[in-house]
Amino acid sequence: MDILMSNWCKPVEEIPEKYIFSVEKRPGSHDFPVMNIPLIDLQNPNRPQIIQQIFDACQEFGIFQVINHGVPASLMEETMKAMKGFFATSPEHKSSFYSTDMTKKCRLYSSTLNYQSEDVHYWRDNLTHHCHPLQHHIHLWPQNPSNYREVVGEYSIETKKLMLRILEAISEGLGLKPKYFDGEIIKSQGLSVNHHIPCPDPSLTLGMPLHTDPNLITTLQQCSVLGLQVLRHHQWMDVEPNPAAFLVIPGFQLKVISNGRFSSPVHRVVTHSREARTTIGSFLIPSPEIVIEPAEEYAGDRPVYKGFTYEEFFSCFIRSNCEADAALAFFKNETNSKSTTLL
Ligand code: OGA
Ligand code: NI
Repeated sequence: MDILMSNWCKPVEEIPEKYIFSVEKRPGSHDFPVMNIPLIDLQNPNRPQIIQQIFDACQEFGIFQVINHGVPASLMEETMKAMKGFFATSPEHKSSFYSTDMTKKCRLYSSTLNYQSEDVHYWRDNLTHHCHPLQHHIHLWPQNPSNYREVVGEYSIETKKLMLRILEAISEGLGLKPKYFDGEIIKSQGLSVNHHIPCPDPSLTLGMPLHTDPNLITTLQQCSVLGLQVLRHHQWMDVEPNPAAFLVIPGFQLKVISNGRFSSPVHRVVTHSREARTTIGSFLIPSPEIVIEPAEEYAGDRPVYKGFTYEEFFSCFIRSNCEADAALAFFKNETNSKSTTLL
């Protein structure tokens, strides 16, 4: 059987045993409550209100949606079409992108990068590539569909602009110095496309492990199929897709920079019984060498975390099974964190 699920003969009638999670880990067959996620209109002429709404959403939920975000609807549709088109290309074409080598700047894989060693596989294929600077990476991207590079190139530029706009509002909300989010802290941009084929029994499988986004900030474009869940007050909740909006997830580095004020929620993906699901994540990622620490302007002399390089954090993150709070325990500043309920 092909490792890539999108190369399997459809539809799948029986779940291969390797994809069935233990009773403790599987989502089960009950209904999940829907999370009421803040919806923020970026065209609101009242800018202080936008800044406050973003600040409140980062603090209270660690996830929000933006509309009137400046990325043209036609570009979002074309990009989604290009991604679905890529996953519908021939098995030979897709297999030519297959790799679990993390250093590869454009790779297609299935489940996780630990496919060979993991006990149970996640129900997903994933295409990941770097986007910035475009001219260093675009030649590695797919050329089938034929407009992939053109459309996705424009999309990556537009989503970067959007993430920078949101970071600017966050910076103002936290009272940071101008251009705090510039240069090395936003050095790389990645694109990560999840594709999940229909699964005959979603109660037994998972489309993506529970994790926190380790980077600076993420935008996510979802198709109309339900799948993303956020852990809130110890309860998994569904995030209803809004294909016209972008979901924004402040990454874990923003939690550190805000001295623990912002949340960076644990989330996962469940599967769908009838429809394939595709999502497009855009990530801004600090350079490995940059030191991330609570912003002095905000934390004053009470930083609850020690500074660390992004590289140091990332290696702890991988060792902590992609649970950033566990990774962060390595960098906790004992003297100042006692008064908080952060970890
Ligand atoms: C991610 C992620 C969720 C989704 O890529 O980090 O959480 O719905 N994706 O695909
Ligand atoms: Ni995520």
